[in-house]
Amino acid sequence: MLRERLRPYVERADKALSKLLSEHVSSPFAAPLVEFVSGGKRVRPVLLYLSHEVCGGGADPDPDPAAAAVELIHTASLIHDDLIDGDQVRRGKLAFHMRFGRDLAILVSDFVLSLVLDVTADYGNPRIARALSRTTRVMSEGEAEEARIRARGEPISFDAYLQILEKKTASLFSASTELGAIIAGAEDRVISGMAEFGRLVGMAYQLRDDLLDFGKPGEISALVEAKPVGPIGAASEDFTRRAVDLLEDLVPPSEARNLLKELALYATRWEG
Ligand code: FPP
Ligand code: MG
Repeated sequence: MLRERLRPYVERADKALSKLLSEHVSSPFAAPLVEFVSGGKRVRPVLLYLSHEVCGGGADPDPDPAAAAVELIHTASLIHDDLIDGDQVRRGKLAFHMRFGRDLAILVSDFVLSLVLDVTADYGNPRIARALSRTTRVMSEGEAEEARIRARGEPISFDAYLQILEKKTASLFSASTELGAIIAGAEDRVISGMAEFGRLVGMAYQLRDDLLDFGKPGEISALVEAKPVGPIGAASEDFTRRAVDLLEDLVPPSEARNLLKELALYATRWEG
């Protein structure tokens, strides 16, 4: 089963996160973050590790701090997303702002920003810094655009909808696989190819998420013209197919490549 085969990578991501947060145990954000991140799927750090592995990366530079950074950016974005969406529950547990209050939910992203800056400083590689800064900027722009469209209740085209998903979700998937390749020292063509693979998987994943949430109040998918349930499902499968094809052209066969392929398939099949 995929979950079992990914377990070593998930455990590695958990350790990397604990290590980064353990440097700040006295901070008021550390314990709330540790509690909130527990039980997550760690899809983004796992993608980063597997991308690093398919690109032939070794122990130095260590991909762990980057893996922790992408999970923390994801975590901070969910905390803010729940504030913006007014959601009180996430993954069956109280949302961060319900459990720890609005002030901590707002300030936690300032804390995460500081940790991510530390991580990039330690790598001393501008490509790593740029991949992280680009995704954070693009994610916030995508979320702001979605909030504006939802507030106005404007109908949007399927293409405009895809662009929002690309910004708010696929950009961090893309940064994760790109970072794995950069840290592995891959050549430029492979780095861009892995970034594109992550983007395609992220699109498939968010489309699947929207399909599972279709019809729930406040979802942006409800504003897409012409009842898009069929097109959303078809687009999710298409992005997965393109991701798998790209990967097979880009890197040689290996167990890590098989796992990346299966993750791409999972992106369009998961059940929540
Ligand atoms: C979930 O969407 C939200 C995102 C994928 C991105 C949210 C991005 C931000 C808040 C901006 C970036 C912020 C930081 C701190 C980096 P959804 O509401 O469709 O999914 P859900 O069902 O999981 O809530
Ligand atoms: Mg939400």
